[in-house]
Amino acid sequence: MNIGSVKLDNPTVLAPLAGITNLPFRLLAKEAGCGLVCSEMVSANGLVHGSRKTVAMLKSVPEEKPLSVQIFGSVPALMAEAARIVEAAGADILDINFGCAVKKIIKTGSGVALMQTPEKAEALLKAVRESIRIPLTIKIRTGWDASGQQAFEIAAMAEACGVDAIAVHPRTATQLFRGRADWSIIAALKAKASIPIVGNGDIFTADDAVHMREMTGCDAVMIGRQAIGNPWIFSKVGARIRGEEEAAEDLGHRFDTMVRYLRASVEHFGETRACYMMRSRLGWFVKGLHHSSRFRQSITRISSATEAIQLLRSYQEALQGEAPPMG
Ligand SMILES: Cc1cc2nc3c(=O)[nH]c(=O)nc-3n(C[C@H](O)[C@H](O)[C@H](O)COP(=O)(O)O)c2cc1C
Repeated sequence: MNIGSVKLDNPTVLAPLAGITNLPFRLLAKEAGCGLVCSEMVSANGLVHGSRKTVAMLKSVPEEKPLSVQIFGSVPALMAEAARIVEAAGADILDINFGCAVKKIIKTGSGVALMQTPEKAEALLKAVRESIRIPLTIKIRTGWDASGQQAFEIAAMAEACGVDAIAVHPRTATQLFRGRADWSIIAALKAKASIPIVGNGDIFTADDAVHMREMTGCDAVMIGRQAIGNPWIFSKVGARIRGEEEAAEDLGHRFDTMVRYLRASVEHFGETRACYMMRSRLGWFVKGLHHSSRFRQSITRISSATEAIQLLRSYQEALQGEAPPMG
């Protein structure tokens, strides 16, 4: 599939996840076969005002390409300037956040608040569209009520403004993550739109991904929470889409991936910050393994990469040395 001029190898997308989809994490998703990786949401304000930490979020490497960078904000001129900065930094796609329902974001008129102010959203999209040449996408929710009316209005307006694709997480603003994602909204949007629709929400297995595509006709599937600590979901979904057998789980590969994640994080953030982050993050990857809570406890004070790798490898050895389950 294509998003504007950008061709995706396969129709799977890593959802933007604040605090999670940084460069080291995106590389894992890409390595597992993800078709398009997305950055965490990046503050347009921070970019335009040259916040060092915010600008650092734009760092990318060729191995993860294509990359979509998501920005949030509500002021058209500022968003247009931020979009130019993102394009100049080498992103392949610019995405605008129309879905974040966190109070702090809504209060500034950004995120899902834009779905309540379509005229403002239109001015913003026009300003951004004029400011960049790379494809432009938006990520929306259902809106403020369950009917999906706001999603349909925003989608039609966005398409008229030259937006190249729309990702939809079909929950309302007030629902946050409660209840179930209403995939019928994805299907209805797909039926109306002439640009690609990326379906998102509640994909937890490869079967779910296939099911969403069949039920909604969406052009690609976007996966968020299930990819946390489990980037292999993308290889599983890819295999199912191609009609191939899913590769069996491989403990050695899981631990090697954690080591690579740690090393990439050290390179990207420096050892001190990376170790601090890894104290919780490595724990994501051991869900479901024997004695995982003991391992999680053991990494809460790691202060060097060597120490973290030692703990990882000795946990791996302990697991591999365990007698296979009876029966
Ligand atoms: C920890 C976390 C951070 C998120 N950060 C963002 C974000 O930065 N931008 C965004 O558009 N959506 C964000 N989302 C929403 C996800 O992109 C996605 O729409 C949502 O999790 C539903 O997909 P899922 O069921 O596959 O998780 C976030 C969700 C979670 C759980």
